[in-house]
Amino acid sequence: MQSEKDFLGLKGVPLAVVEEILNRAADMKRAYSAGEKRAACAGKTVVTLFYENSTRTRTSFELAAKALSANTVNIAVATSSVSKGESLIDNGKTLDALRADAVAIRHPAAGAPRLLARNMAAAVINAGDGMNEHPTQALLDMFTIREKFGAFKGLKVLIAGDVKHSRVARSNIYGLKAAGADVTVCAPATLMLAGIERFGVRVAKTLQEGAAGADVLMALRLQLERQKSGMFPSIQEYTRFYNINTEIAGLARPGAIVMHPGPLNRGLEISSSIADSDSSVITRQVSNGVAVRMALLERLLGD
Ligand code: CP
Repeated sequence: MQSEKDFLGLKGVPLAVVEEILNRAADMKRAYSAGEKRAACAGKTVVTLFYENSTRTRTSFELAAKALSANTVNIAVATSSVSKGESLIDNGKTLDALRADAVAIRHPAAGAPRLLARNMAAAVINAGDGMNEHPTQALLDMFTIREKFGAFKGLKVLIAGDVKHSRVARSNIYGLKAAGADVTVCAPATLMLAGIERFGVRVAKTLQEGAAGADVLMALRLQLERQKSGMFPSIQEYTRFYNINTEIAGLARPGAIVMHPGPLNRGLEISSSIADSDSSVITRQVSNGVAVRMALLERLLGD
Protein backbone atom coordinates (compact mmCIF):
# COMPACT_ATOMS: atom_id res chain seq x y z
CA MET A 1 0.00 0.00 0.00
CA GLN A 2 1.36 3.41 -0.86
CA SER A 3 1.27 6.55 1.27
CA GLU A 4 -1.12 9.40 0.57
CA LYS A 5 1.90 11.62 -0.17
CA ASP A 6 2.43 9.94 -3.54
CA PHE A 7 0.54 8.23 -6.34
CA LEU A 8 2.66 5.36 -7.60
CA GLY A 9 0.25 2.78 -9.00
CA LEU A 10 -3.26 1.37 -8.95
CA LYS A 11 -2.24 -1.96 -7.43
CA GLY A 12 -3.87 -2.15 -4.02
CA VAL A 13 -5.53 1.27 -4.20
CA PRO A 14 -9.01 1.00 -2.64
CA LEU A 15 -11.88 1.33 -5.09
CA ALA A 16 -13.29 4.16 -2.96
CA VAL A 17 -10.15 6.22 -3.63
CA VAL A 18 -10.39 5.60 -7.38
CA GLU A 19 -14.06 6.59 -7.31
CA GLU A 20 -13.29 9.78 -5.40
CA ILE A 21 -10.71 10.77 -8.02
CA LEU A 22 -13.08 9.97 -10.90
CA ASN A 23 -15.89 11.93 -9.25
CA ARG A 24 -13.64 14.96 -8.74
CA ALA A 25 -12.43 14.59 -12.34
CA ALA A 26 -16.01 15.02 -13.56
CA ASP A 27 -16.15 18.38 -11.77
CA MET A 28 -12.68 19.30 -13.07
CA LYS A 29 -13.74 18.46 -16.62
CA ARG A 30 -16.69 20.86 -16.36
CA ALA A 31 -14.42 23.61 -15.03
CA TYR A 32 -11.67 23.01 -17.59
CA SER A 33 -14.14 22.85 -20.50
CA ALA A 34 -15.63 26.17 -19.37
CA GLY A 35 -12.17 27.74 -19.18
CA GLU A 36 -12.48 28.24 -15.41
CA LYS A 37 -9.25 28.39 -13.46
CA ARG A 38 -9.27 26.79 -10.01
CA ALA A 39 -7.06 27.93 -7.11
CA ALA A 40 -6.55 24.52 -5.49
CA CYS A 41 -2.78 24.46 -6.13
CA ALA A 42 -2.05 28.19 -6.03
CA GLY A 43 1.51 28.80 -4.84
CA LYS A 44 2.49 25.16 -5.44
CA THR A 45 5.10 24.01 -7.95
CA VAL A 46 4.60 20.94 -10.13
CA VAL A 47 7.63 19.51 -11.93
CA THR A 48 7.46 17.11 -14.88
CA LEU A 49 10.55 14.92 -14.97
CA PHE A 50 10.42 12.64 -18.00
CA TYR A 51 13.27 10.25 -18.77
CA GLU A 52 11.23 8.88 -21.70
CA ASN A 53 9.40 10.72 -24.47
CA SER A 54 5.82 11.79 -24.04
CA THR A 55 3.27 14.05 -25.69
CA ARG A 56 -0.03 13.37 -23.94
CA THR A 57 1.01 12.67 -20.36
CA ARG A 58 3.58 15.42 -19.92
CA THR A 59 1.44 18.07 -21.63
CA SER A 60 -1.71 17.16 -19.71
CA PHE A 61 0.11 17.24 -16.35
CA GLU A 62 1.32 20.71 -17.22
CA LEU A 63 -2.12 21.89 -18.36
CA ALA A 64 -3.76 20.34 -15.29
CA ALA A 65 -1.32 22.04 -12.92
CA LYS A 66 -1.79 25.40 -14.64
CA ALA A 67 -5.59 25.00 -14.51
CA LEU A 68 -5.24 24.64 -10.73
CA SER A 69 -3.05 27.80 -10.57
CA ALA A 70 0.19 25.92 -9.83
CA ASN A 71 3.60 26.92 -11.16
CA THR A 72 4.94 24.36 -13.61
CA VAL A 73 8.48 23.38 -14.51
CA ASN A 74 9.44 20.88 -17.17
CA ILE A 75 12.85 19.29 -16.81
CA ALA A 76 14.29 18.30 -20.16
CA VAL A 77 16.30 15.33 -18.92
CA ALA A 78 18.64 15.33 -21.94
CA THR A 79 19.82 18.87 -21.14
CA SER A 80 19.71 18.54 -17.34
CA SER A 81 22.44 17.43 -14.95
CA VAL A 82 21.19 13.85 -15.40
CA SER A 83 23.35 13.87 -18.52
CA LYS A 84 26.34 14.62 -16.24
CA GLY A 85 25.56 11.53 -14.21
CA GLU A 86 23.37 12.95 -11.42
CA SER A 87 21.50 10.10 -9.74
CA LEU A 88 17.73 9.89 -9.45
CA ILE A 89 17.94 10.34 -5.67
CA ASP A 90 20.20 13.39 -5.96
CA ASN A 91 17.84 14.74 -8.58
CA GLY A 92 15.01 14.39 -6.06
CA LYS A 93 16.99 16.12 -3.31
CA THR A 94 17.77 18.95 -5.75
CA LEU A 95 14.09 19.37 -6.62
CA ASP A 96 13.19 19.37 -2.90
CA ALA A 97 15.80 22.10 -2.34
CA LEU A 98 14.18 24.08 -5.13
CA ARG A 99 10.87 23.70 -3.26
CA ALA A 100 9.02 21.50 -5.74
CA ASP A 101 5.70 20.34 -4.28
CA ALA A 102 5.02 17.53 -6.73
CA VAL A 103 7.06 15.65 -9.32
CA ALA A 104 5.41 13.68 -12.13
CA ILE A 105 8.07 11.23 -13.24
CA ARG A 106 8.33 8.91 -16.24
CA HIS A 107 11.24 6.52 -16.22
CA PRO A 108 12.27 3.42 -18.21
CA ALA A 109 13.00 1.49 -14.98
CA ALA A 110 10.12 -0.10 -13.08
CA GLY A 111 10.18 1.17 -9.49
CA ALA A 112 11.97 4.44 -10.20
CA PRO A 113 9.01 6.57 -8.97
CA ARG A 114 8.89 4.58 -5.72
CA LEU A 115 12.61 5.09 -5.16
CA LEU A 116 12.21 8.81 -5.79
CA ALA A 117 9.18 9.00 -3.48
CA ARG A 118 11.13 7.40 -0.63
CA ASN A 119 13.89 9.93 -1.00
CA MET A 120 12.11 13.21 -1.40
CA ALA A 121 9.61 15.28 0.52
CA ALA A 122 7.57 16.33 -2.52
CA ALA A 123 4.64 14.27 -3.76
CA VAL A 124 5.70 11.85 -6.48
CA ILE A 125 3.31 10.79 -9.24
CA ASN A 126 4.08 7.86 -11.49
CA ALA A 127 3.68 9.00 -15.10
CA GLY A 128 4.79 5.58 -16.39
CA ASP A 129 7.62 3.37 -15.11
CA GLY A 130 9.08 0.78 -17.44
CA MET A 131 6.77 -2.19 -17.82
CA ASN A 132 5.24 -1.68 -14.37
CA GLU A 133 2.38 0.85 -14.17
CA HIS A 134 0.91 3.96 -15.80
CA PRO A 135 -1.76 4.71 -13.21
CA THR A 136 -2.96 8.10 -14.45
CA GLN A 137 -3.50 6.59 -17.92
CA ALA A 138 -5.67 3.88 -16.36
CA LEU A 139 -7.61 6.48 -14.37
CA LEU A 140 -8.34 8.47 -17.51
CA ASP A 141 -9.31 5.27 -19.31
CA MET A 142 -11.67 4.36 -16.46
CA PHE A 143 -13.09 7.87 -16.47
CA THR A 144 -13.74 7.60 -20.22
CA ILE A 145 -15.38 4.17 -19.83
CA ARG A 146 -17.55 5.44 -16.98
CA GLU A 147 -18.65 8.45 -19.04
CA LYS A 148 -19.92 6.08 -21.70
CA PHE A 149 -21.40 3.26 -19.61
CA GLY A 150 -22.02 4.83 -16.20
CA ALA A 151 -20.52 1.92 -14.22
CA PHE A 152 -17.98 -0.90 -14.49
CA LYS A 153 -19.68 -3.90 -12.94
CA GLY A 154 -20.02 -6.70 -15.48
CA LEU A 155 -18.64 -4.63 -18.37
CA LYS A 156 -16.70 -6.78 -20.81
CA VAL A 157 -13.34 -5.20 -21.55
CA LEU A 158 -10.88 -6.66 -24.04
CA ILE A 159 -7.25 -5.51 -23.71
CA ALA A 160 -5.40 -6.64 -26.82
CA GLY A 161 -1.87 -6.50 -28.17
CA ASP A 162 1.51 -6.17 -26.52
CA VAL A 163 0.36 -7.06 -22.99
CA LYS A 164 3.84 -8.12 -21.89
CA HIS A 165 5.44 -4.70 -22.22
CA SER A 166 2.38 -2.66 -21.32
CA ARG A 167 2.26 -0.62 -18.11
CA VAL A 168 -1.11 0.65 -19.40
CA ALA A 169 -2.46 -2.90 -19.41
CA ARG A 170 -1.26 -3.60 -15.87
CA SER A 171 -2.74 -0.45 -14.37
CA ASN A 172 -6.02 -0.92 -16.24
CA ILE A 173 -6.28 -4.52 -15.08
CA TYR A 174 -5.76 -3.47 -11.43
CA GLY A 175 -8.29 -0.65 -11.67
CA LEU A 176 -10.94 -2.32 -13.81
CA LYS A 177 -10.86 -5.61 -11.91
CA ALA A 178 -11.22 -3.79 -8.58
CA ALA A 179 -14.22 -1.96 -10.04
CA GLY A 180 -15.93 -5.21 -11.06
CA ALA A 181 -15.28 -5.26 -14.82
CA ASP A 182 -14.87 -8.54 -16.65
CA VAL A 183 -11.41 -8.22 -18.27
CA THR A 184 -10.09 -10.38 -21.10
CA VAL A 185 -6.60 -10.11 -22.56
CA CYS A 186 -5.38 -11.27 -25.94
CA ALA A 187 -1.78 -11.33 -27.22
CA PRO A 188 0.64 -13.57 -29.08
CA ALA A 189 2.17 -16.05 -26.62
CA THR A 190 5.51 -14.21 -26.79
CA LEU A 191 3.85 -10.90 -25.90
CA MET A 192 1.71 -12.24 -23.06
CA LEU A 193 2.68 -11.59 -19.47
CA ALA A 194 3.83 -14.75 -17.72
CA GLY A 195 1.36 -15.73 -14.99
CA ILE A 196 -1.34 -13.40 -16.33
CA GLU A 197 -4.01 -15.63 -14.74
CA ARG A 198 -3.05 -14.37 -11.28
CA PHE A 199 -4.43 -10.97 -12.31
CA GLY A 200 -7.90 -12.55 -12.47
CA VAL A 201 -8.35 -11.96 -16.20
CA ARG A 202 -9.57 -14.29 -18.91
CA VAL A 203 -7.20 -15.08 -21.78
CA ALA A 204 -8.67 -15.19 -25.28
CA LYS A 205 -6.93 -17.38 -27.83
CA THR A 206 -7.87 -15.14 -30.74
CA LEU A 207 -8.84 -11.52 -31.20
CA GLN A 208 -12.17 -12.72 -32.60
CA GLU A 209 -12.89 -14.67 -29.40
CA GLY A 210 -11.89 -11.74 -27.19
CA ALA A 211 -13.88 -9.17 -29.15
CA ALA A 212 -17.10 -11.19 -29.27
CA GLY A 213 -19.70 -9.38 -27.17
CA ALA A 214 -17.17 -6.91 -25.68
CA ASP A 215 -18.25 -3.45 -24.51
CA VAL A 216 -14.74 -2.03 -24.68
CA LEU A 217 -11.98 -2.87 -27.15
CA MET A 218 -8.69 -1.49 -25.82
CA ALA A 219 -5.81 -1.75 -28.27
CA LEU A 220 -2.27 -1.55 -26.91
CA ARG A 221 0.66 0.01 -28.70
CA LEU A 222 3.15 -2.53 -30.01
CA GLN A 223 6.24 -1.40 -28.09
CA LEU A 224 8.93 -2.21 -30.59
CA GLU A 225 11.46 -0.15 -28.60
CA ARG A 226 11.17 -2.53 -25.59
CA GLN A 227 11.37 -5.74 -27.59
CA LYS A 228 14.17 -8.00 -28.52
CA SER A 229 13.82 -9.37 -32.03
CA GLY A 230 11.91 -12.55 -32.73
CA MET A 231 8.84 -11.96 -30.54
CA PHE A 232 6.61 -12.50 -33.57
CA PRO A 233 7.45 -13.66 -37.09
CA SER A 234 6.83 -10.37 -38.91
CA ILE A 235 4.88 -7.13 -38.67
CA GLN A 236 2.57 -8.48 -41.39
CA GLU A 237 1.89 -11.58 -39.29
CA TYR A 238 1.19 -9.51 -36.18
CA THR A 239 -1.19 -7.25 -38.07
CA ARG A 240 -2.99 -10.20 -39.60
CA PHE A 241 -3.89 -11.65 -36.19
CA TYR A 242 -3.87 -8.69 -33.75
CA ASN A 243 -5.08 -5.65 -35.67
CA ILE A 244 -8.34 -4.14 -34.42
CA ASN A 245 -10.17 -3.41 -37.65
CA THR A 246 -13.74 -3.09 -38.85
CA GLU A 247 -14.26 -6.85 -38.89
CA ILE A 248 -13.06 -7.25 -35.28
CA ALA A 249 -15.03 -4.22 -34.05
CA GLY A 250 -18.11 -5.71 -35.72
CA LEU A 251 -17.97 -8.64 -33.30
CA ALA A 252 -18.31 -6.38 -30.24
CA ARG A 253 -21.62 -5.36 -28.72
CA PRO A 254 -23.57 -2.60 -30.49
CA GLY A 255 -22.47 0.65 -28.83
CA ALA A 256 -19.05 -0.71 -27.90
CA ILE A 257 -16.17 1.74 -27.71
CA VAL A 258 -12.63 1.47 -29.07
CA MET A 259 -9.76 2.81 -26.96
CA HIS A 260 -6.02 3.25 -27.40
CA PRO A 261 -3.66 5.01 -24.99
CA GLY A 262 -1.60 6.47 -27.84
CA PRO A 263 0.66 7.01 -29.58
CA LEU A 264 -0.98 4.97 -32.35
CA ASN A 265 0.79 2.64 -34.72
CA ARG A 266 -1.87 3.06 -37.40
CA GLY A 267 -2.33 -0.03 -39.52
CA LEU A 268 -0.44 -2.15 -37.01
CA GLU A 269 -2.42 -2.73 -33.80
CA ILE A 270 -5.36 -0.61 -34.99
CA SER A 271 -6.76 0.34 -38.40
CA SER A 272 -7.41 3.96 -39.27
CA SER A 273 -10.97 3.01 -40.24
CA ILE A 274 -11.59 2.15 -36.56
CA ALA A 275 -9.32 4.71 -34.89
CA ASP A 276 -11.21 7.48 -36.71
CA SER A 277 -14.68 5.91 -36.45
CA ASP A 278 -17.61 7.03 -34.31
CA SER A 279 -16.93 4.17 -31.89
CA SER A 280 -13.42 5.48 -31.17
CA VAL A 281 -12.94 7.48 -27.96
CA ILE A 282 -9.20 7.97 -28.46
CA THR A 283 -9.22 11.77 -28.59
CA ARG A 284 -11.69 11.87 -25.68
CA GLN A 285 -9.19 9.81 -23.65
CA VAL A 286 -6.57 12.48 -24.29
CA SER A 287 -8.92 15.32 -23.25
CA ASN A 288 -10.00 13.45 -20.14
CA GLY A 289 -6.36 13.12 -19.12
CA VAL A 290 -6.31 16.77 -18.08
CA ALA A 291 -9.39 16.46 -15.85
CA VAL A 292 -8.16 13.30 -14.16
CA ARG A 293 -4.72 14.78 -13.50
CA MET A 294 -6.35 17.93 -12.11
CA ALA A 295 -8.32 15.77 -9.68
CA LEU A 296 -5.17 13.92 -8.65
CA LEU A 297 -3.08 17.06 -8.18
CA GLU A 298 -5.84 18.61 -6.10
CA ARG A 299 -5.96 15.47 -3.96
CA LEU A 300 -2.21 15.45 -3.37
CA LEU A 301 -1.53 19.18 -3.11
CA GLY A 302 -4.84 20.90 -2.33
CA ASP A 303 -5.59 22.19 1.14
N1 CP B 1 -0.47 7.37 -23.37
C1 CP B 1 0.72 7.95 -23.15
O1 CP B 1 1.37 7.73 -22.12
O2 CP B 1 1.11 8.81 -24.14
P1 CP B 1 2.45 9.66 -24.11
O3 CP B 1 3.59 8.71 -24.25
O4 CP B 1 2.33 10.62 -25.30
O5 CP B 1 2.51 10.41 -22.81
